[in-house]
Amino acid sequence: MSHYLLIDHIDKKFTRGSHETEVLKDVTLGIEQGEYVSIIGHSGCGKTTLLNIVAGLTPVSRGGVILENREVNEPGPDRAVVFQNHSLLPWLTVYGNVKLAVDKVFSASKSRAERHAWTMHNLDLVQMGHAKDKRPAEISGGMKQRVGLARALAMQPKVLLLDEPFGALDALTRAHLQDSVMAIHEKLGNTVLMITHDVDEAVLLSDRIVMMTNGPAACIGEVLDVSLARPRKRLTLAGDAEYLKCRKRVLEFLYERHRFVEAA
Ligand SMILES: Nc1ncnc2c1ncn2[C@@H]1O[C@H](COP(=O)(O)OP(=O)(O)OP(=O)(O)O)[C@@H](O)[C@H]1O
Ligand SMILES: [Mg+2]
Repeated sequence: MSHYLLIDHIDKKFTRGSHETEVLKDVTLGIEQGEYVSIIGHSGCGKTTLLNIVAGLTPVSRGGVILENREVNEPGPDRAVVFQNHSLLPWLTVYGNVKLAVDKVFSASKSRAERHAWTMHNLDLVQMGHAKDKRPAEISGGMKQRVGLARALAMQPKVLLLDEPFGALDALTRAHLQDSVMAIHEKLGNTVLMITHDVDEAVLLSDRIVMMTNGPAACIGEVLDVSLARPRKRLTLAGDAEYLKCRKRVLEFLYERHRFVEAA
């Protein structure tokens, strides 16, 4: 069966001099169009490495990534990344940061006026239109992540890659942003691959949760289907039997079967 995005038998080793670290071993995962898939696993198991491989930022040692039946092995606008710490250009305004990506991707296909409208449309989508003239230093962490999200969405990527996009935020800001991402996913039907450390976040947002074993040579230990109806409301779900069952399954995987052992 062909998948929209296929991570196909990936191994990744890092070599420094004569020292070799095997980070990922035989990772295979198929993702369908419009699916929201989360990857969860202990620190250092190789989640970012896997995301960077899909983004085309890190070469594989074996295997490959197939997107819509084409192998992808370098970065491209079809895979937009939002990192844990915002990667906005400090000398550009909020508007300028998003417009830069829009100009790059749509210079040939949209007129100047269309590119302006598209930039504003995406800023409005993440509720940041009002702050368009501010610079990154003048806005909060949550707002910076919103702009990063707008920039990624504005590229109309086939796959949105999120590396702990809410990781550095306080709990309330995090909840607001999760709600925004859910609403955007509902509206646009994006295909999303998101890394998280947070069990509740994974269950709330995902169609499937991919649980990774501890490294070295980490692989996919288990994949959990989250069959909760959408749209999802965090308050209603807090007592929902299916929600609690999913949450328990992930917690058991992380804290019993694959307990984190801090390297000495
Ligand atoms: N460029 C590199 N060269 C050598 N080793 C690397 C490199 N990048 C990552 N590693 C190693 O690969 C392993 C996995 O790192 P990675 O950043 O993918 O983990 P992670 O699961 O994202 O962790 P965290 O949850 O803390 O973000 C770690 O042991 C790390 O030291
Ligand atoms: Mg990481």
